[in-house]
Amino acid sequence: MKKLYVFDTTLRDGEQSLGITLNVKEKLEIGHQLVKLGVDIIEAGFPASSPGDFESVQTMAQEIKGVTICGLTRAVAKDIDICADALRKAEYPRIHTGIGVSPVHMAKKLNLTPDRVIEQAVSAVKYAKKYVSDVEFYAEDAFRGEPAFLAKVIEAVISAGATVVNLPDTVGYASPWEYGDLISFVIQNVKNIDQAIVSVHCHNDLGMATANSLAGIKAGARQVEGTINGIGERAGNTSLEEVIMAIFTQRDGYGIESSINHREISATSRLVSRITGVTIPDHKAIVGANAFNHASGIHQDGVLKDRETYEIIQPETIGVPKNNINLTARSGRHALQFRLEELGYKVEGAQLDDVYQRFLLLADQKKEIFDQDLYVLMGDSDDKENS
Ligand code: KIV
Ligand code: ZN
Repeated sequence: MKKLYVFDTTLRDGEQSLGITLNVKEKLEIGHQLVKLGVDIIEAGFPASSPGDFESVQTMAQEIKGVTICGLTRAVAKDIDICADALRKAEYPRIHTGIGVSPVHMAKKLNLTPDRVIEQAVSAVKYAKKYVSDVEFYAEDAFRGEPAFLAKVIEAVISAGATVVNLPDTVGYASPWEYGDLISFVIQNVKNIDQAIVSVHCHNDLGMATANSLAGIKAGARQVEGTINGIGERAGNTSLEEVIMAIFTQRDGYGIESSINHREISATSRLVSRITGVTIPDHKAIVGANAFNHASGIHQDGVLKDRETYEIIQPETIGVPKNNINLTARSGRHALQFRLEELGYKVEGAQLDDVYQRFLLLADQKKEIFDQDLYVLMGDSDDKENS
C-alpha cells in the first residue's frame, strides 16, 4: 500500500473561520492532540500575518516534535524570511509558499501577467529553499486556472526545488470528476512530477470538498489537506476525518493508507469543537452526535441482529465507546425488549405487548424514552440509577 500524507490545516485555514481566534496555549493543545492522531504535517499558521501568529508558529515549532511543522507565506521574500524565523526550532520545518494562478487572481488580485506569476513563484521557491529543504508550493485557485498554464507553473516550481505541489480548489467550485481530471492532467503533463508529492486542498462551498479530495487521491495525489470537523473560511475546508474514514473503509479501492490513529478521531473532533467554539452538527458524518445512533424500528431490529446491517464503521474504531439504540416512537418491540433486558427485566409475549403499547403512548409525547421512563413503565418508580 502507498502512503497518504495527512496535512492538517486546522490551525491555519481552519482558524480563518469567522469568529475563531486561537491563542498560543489553545494551538498547542490542539497541536499535541494532532500528534496523537498521527497527522504527518501540521500547518501552524501564517507567521507574517500578525505578531500573534508568528508567536504561535514559533512556539509550535519549539514544542511539537515528531511531525512536520509548516508555515504559510505569500510568494514574497519578506513573508518567507519571517516564516523561516518562526520555524527555526522545528524538528521538521516546511515552508508553504505560493501565488494565485487563475485568470481572475492574476489579473484582478495580483495585477501580474502569467509570465510574471511564474517568475515570482520560481523565485519564492528558490528563496524558501535557502532556509529549508521541504518547500511546498500552492497554486492558489488552481481549479479555475487554465490547465496547460498550471502544468507550466508546476513544472517550473518543481525544477526550482518544490518537494510538494498543492493544487487547491480555493473557492470550492469543482465537482469530483473535474477535480480528479485536473489532478490526472497535471500528473500526466508535468515532466518532473515524480520529483514531488501532489497535494489536494479543497473547500466546501458546494458541499463537495470530501468527494473532490477523494477524486484527487484516486487520480494520484499522495497528500490530502484539510481541517478537523471541516472548519474554515466560508463553508469550510475538507473534513479530514471524513477523508480518512472513507479511505479506511474502502482501502482496497484506493490502494493507500495513512498513519492516522483512528481511535483518536473522536477525541480530536471534540477538542477542536470545544476550543474553537464551533459546534458539530448532530448529523455530521463520522463525528456528529447521531453518527452511531439508531432511531427507527427497522434499523434497530437490523442492528440488534447484526451491526453490519446499518453500520459501515464500528464506533469503537474512531474512539466512540458504543453505538446507541435510541428508544423513540419509531422503535419496535425488539429494541424495547433488548433495552429492558439490559436493565434486568425479562419480558416476553403478552407482557411485552402490554409494555410496548404503554411505551408507544409515552413515546408519542416525548422525543426519546430514557431508562428512568422505562423503570416507571415497569412499575419500578425508585430511582434505580441512584440506588
Ligand atoms: O485555499 C487555498 O487556496 C489556500 C492556499 C493559501 C493554500 O488555503
Ligand atoms: Zn484553503
